[in-house]
Amino acid sequence: MSFTVAIDGPAAAGKGTISKAVAAHFGLAHLDTGLLYRAVGRRTLDGTDPVEAARSLTAEELEQGDLRTAEIAQAASKVAVLPEVRAALVDFQRSFARRAGGAVLDGRDIGTVICPEAEVKLFVTASPEVRAERRYLELVGKGADVTRAQVLADVRERDARDAERSTAPMKPADDAVLLDTTDLSIEAALEKAIAVIQEKLPAG
Ligand code: DC
Repeated sequence: MSFTVAIDGPAAAGKGTISKAVAAHFGLAHLDTGLLYRAVGRRTLDGTDPVEAARSLTAEELEQGDLRTAEIAQAASKVAVLPEVRAALVDFQRSFARRAGGAVLDGRDIGTVICPEAEVKLFVTASPEVRAERRYLELVGKGADVTRAQVLADVRERDARDAERSTAPMKPADDAVLLDTTDLSIEAALEKAIAVIQEKLPAG
């Protein structure tokens, strides 16, 4: 059985947490596609050409070191604008999506470009302020030296770049279910996501 769940949305809307939890709930494999762009972004920090970095990316690199820093997030968003970088990462994502047993992929363009045939599409959002607060607490929890204002500015800058690029911009697919988590606890958001997926699961 190939069963694909596409979960898109802006930074810190809760899609990572929701994706991981629904994958565990339904026994599906999970790929956080942001890690691919982050790994490419990290390589460019030492001057490596982004297209070269994307073409030679290995699965092991996704596991090495902390890719979830503010600096790498910005670098990821910048390399993600380049059509050749995106093209180099398509096959890996599509093969993952088609794996036996089904998969959850989260990112920005999964429902629109990577898996337009996905059985379930969710677009998870929240207000920029709520997302920035969540990301701020996460970064401070890891010992990062950041201010709320900086994190909010970063979130807004990345939202604009991700949504306004011409190749595969972040946007909900026409058939995506919108899930606004601004006023939802993680438990409530998860419950809604599970209900949407449950409805689309093949019977038996
Ligand atoms: O989901 P994330 O915050 O880890 O993603 C980091 C950056 O990577 C994001 O700002 C835009 C880019 N990205 C993308 O363009 N397409 C995806 N499917 C996933 C991430």
